[in-house]
Amino acid sequence: MSKTTTEIVDAVTGGRRLRRNRRFSWTRRIVRETRLSADDLILPLFLMEGDDCEEPITAMPGVSRYSVDRAVKVTARARDLGIPAVAPFPNVAREKRDQTGSEIANPDNLICQFTRAAKAAVPDIGIITDAALDPFTDHGHDGVLRDGQIVNDESVDQIVEGALRQAEAGADIIAPSDMMDGRIGAIRLALDEAGFQDVGILSYTAKYASAFYGPYREAIGTGGLLQGDKNTYYVDPANSEDAMREAEMDIAEGADMLMVKPGMPYLDIVYRMKQETGMPVFVYQVSGEYSMIESAAANGFIDGQRAMMESLLAFKRAGADGILTYHALRAAELMAN
Ligand code: PBG
Repeated sequence: MSKTTTEIVDAVTGGRRLRRNRRFSWTRRIVRETRLSADDLILPLFLMEGDDCEEPITAMPGVSRYSVDRAVKVTARARDLGIPAVAPFPNVAREKRDQTGSEIANPDNLICQFTRAAKAAVPDIGIITDAALDPFTDHGHDGVLRDGQIVNDESVDQIVEGALRQAEAGADIIAPSDMMDGRIGAIRLALDEAGFQDVGILSYTAKYASAFYGPYREAIGTGGLLQGDKNTYYVDPANSEDAMREAEMDIAEGADMLMVKPGMPYLDIVYRMKQETGMPVFVYQVSGEYSMIESAAANGFIDGQRAMMESLLAFKRAGADGILTYHALRAAELMAN
């Protein structure tokens, strides 16, 4: 006698039907393992010179550059929505960029101006500043370029100068995104010597040599400038052991928090870094990831809002403690309603 399908399913599952927990919205809610909130989000902000200015970024629909006064207003909005911190990135005037990125050491550069203004107007939100040189160099690299090479130690000197100016301006956390060897230890030492024991370091620990940074380079005006690629200092997308070595060294050098960048193609690295280090691990959903979601949504190929929330949740499921995302304001607005 042949078996009924119910007998077969009961036999192969042992009667354990996993769909029971997914049956209703309320059962799904009650067994949900991961939750996203505004507390998880960090908003990157693009700065430009001028007063009361806003310039849309073509490659990032819905994202603009703001003059410092406007960026401070956006920062207040982020605070009101419960976002814990913002991360400013400057589009520096062409004539201020040079071979060594010396503008980063100017206490009145765009990042420092914004940091002072935001600290005064919105004291209860964190400011996380990047000390990489790329917004300030005329060749678009994160370090100093000499005879076709990105020279490590001279770059570290300049990055340390930038970090000190940022701390003096009131930055709460320095987040160097340049991948030079030894910069975490050098920044820690310099901050401590200058009395900034309480200023933290969020290391861009595993920053991959990725194609997904394209739109960001339009946003800060380095797209047309970049000579060659960043393969001699960013992590090779083929590697994960190298990312773990970076994590080990960053921790030894004094990093308070680690980061993986980009996000979605590197969830395995987020997971592994969290599991193996137990450190606070951040993830950066970069410009290209943002633009892919937004452009597919604009074409009606995907539901943009759902794709946005799903991608952010996936970072938390992988183990991220915080997410830098250009979707931060929209996601926080959605969660507030
Ligand atoms: C470089 C830097 C990059 C980003 C932020 N700082 C990468 C790059 O331009 O090579 C990328 C951010 C993004 O794509 O959203 N220090």
